[in-house]
Amino acid sequence: MADAAHDATASSPGTDAAASRSGTRKAKPALRVEGLVKRYGERVAVRGVSFEAAPGELVALIGPNGAGKTTMLSILAGIQPPDAGSVSRQPREIGWVPQQPAVYSKLSVAENLRLFARLEKVPDADATVAQMLAQTGLEERAGDEVGRLSGGNQQRVNIAVGLLAAPPVLLLDEPSSSLDPRQRERLWQFISALAAGGTTVVYSTHNVQEAERYADRVLVLADGELLFSGSPAALAAAVGGDAAGPQDFESAFVRFLHEHGH
Ligand SMILES: Nc1ncnc2c1ncn2[C@@H]1O[C@H](COP(=O)(O)OP(=O)(O)OP(=O)(O)O)[C@@H](O)[C@H]1O
Ligand SMILES: [Mg+2]
Repeated sequence: MADAAHDATASSPGTDAAASRSGTRKAKPALRVEGLVKRYGERVAVRGVSFEAAPGELVALIGPNGAGKTTMLSILAGIQPPDAGSVSRQPREIGWVPQQPAVYSKLSVAENLRLFARLEKVPDADATVAQMLAQTGLEERAGDEVGRLSGGNQQRVNIAVGLLAAPPVLLLDEPSSSLDPRQRERLWQFISALAAGGTTVVYSTHNVQEAERYADRVLVLADGELLFSGSPAALAAAVGGDAAGPQDFESAFVRFLHEHGH
């Protein structure tokens, strides 16, 4: 199984797409994860997961509830240690956007950003905060209490915090789950622009259509095991077309899981 995942990794068109977008062929991976294992008592949440992501690559992590997506992302972010395996980057080089915003609802947008910029020891905190407000379209909300913002704007603050240290790799756990369709569209425009600028983005989602649209590579995780790593088209091809005719990506994904015993 692990070999299949590695083969798909090696030949992924997603890597080429990201590499050509960033103007380099065969770019050195921006992130390399090897043999990651996490146990909670008897339960194995992550079972020897390995993958690579290129600079500017958009990577979607998909899989059923309890697959280990949040566990894996939080290990990459340095929130908790793995029991085995390695991550090629230090946590300070990796931005982390948790599913539940970890910001102070009673502080303003600018106060939150300033606080986190200091905590992260960002060199020029004020300039960085101003830049993040502009980049995330929050300038007009700078003085507003975060707790009074809409869910979409709170999510922007959450992402702005993850980006304060200008990390080469950004991780987001179900970033779109609480957003309406318009806010979701804006979120993906923003994230796609980040990736086009060279940031490697790894995100989890239960919206597999979103993964199909906004990923160069999908990683399929089920019961802690990486079952697939490759382009959305390669995943659809892996389950093949049949007499029933062309299927949508969600059906292909469900069928893929079923074929692998999930
Ligand atoms: N702190 C913890 N202590 C014990 N078990 C945990 C802990 N965190 C996660 N787990 C277990 O590890 C497994 C993976 O959980 P995880 O939250 O990573 O899944 P997920 O893929 O993010 O699921 P979802 O799609 O529901 O968010 C689950 O069986 C979960 O119960
Ligand atoms: Mg989760």
